[in-house]
Amino acid sequence: MNYVVTIDGPAGAGKSSAAKALAKLLNVHYLDTGAIYRSIALILDEAEIKPDQPEFIAEALRDIKIELRDGAVLVNDIDISGEIRTPHVDKIASDYSAVKCVRDALLHLQQEQQNFGSLIAEGRDVGSVVFPNADIKFYLTASPEARAKRRCLERELKGEAVNYDETLKAIKSRDEFDSKRENSPLKVPDNAIIIDTSEINEQETLNLLAKHVKEVLKI
Ligand code: DC
Repeated sequence: MNYVVTIDGPAGAGKSSAAKALAKLLNVHYLDTGAIYRSIALILDEAEIKPDQPEFIAEALRDIKIELRDGAVLVNDIDISGEIRTPHVDKIASDYSAVKCVRDALLHLQQEQQNFGSLIAEGRDVGSVVFPNADIKFYLTASPEARAKRRCLERELKGEAVNYDETLKAIKSRDEFDSKRENSPLKVPDNAIIIDTSEINEQETLNLLAKHVKEVLKI
């Protein structure tokens, strides 16, 4: 039996680690929808097309080939996964993902992933818009301070310079923008199970999700 589990929530709530680990544990596919938005944002930004130019965006998107392969996003056959996790792309991904034609263009690509087997999908609207009939929906959240701390740690581990206050400010402003946009805003999907990860670590988060999935799906 194929199933879809969705994990939505704000930046830094632990969605990616949890979704990746859950997919590995259950031996099913993992869909990182944020990586798709990040890749598109980077390509449009490099082409100097701005988020307030929807007609140019729509035209550019018609010529861009996007493929998902082994967890990576390929744009025109090039894997740009290594370039999409920067503070600049955090910001522009949020800006471009608010544009309706961007969301429309990426909806089908996300939805067709369920045809390849069971799926753990992660994002901002995967439970509300992309897979409204998902078997299980989670919403992971955490205090902005806990999320900023995590983001700083992640970047420190990569050897990058970090500034906690700036990271916290950026997280708060991205939350606000993602939640208030008109198109597919970040929100708790109907029937989603809400988990606050401020005080629990990755393993504990995974344990909670896995326990629930196994109970509900009887796997
Ligand atoms: O999860 P992330 O931080 O990689 O996502 C980057 C941006 O992409 C986020 O600020 C909003 C956007 N996004 C979205 O609008 N819808 C999704 N399903 C996933 C991400």
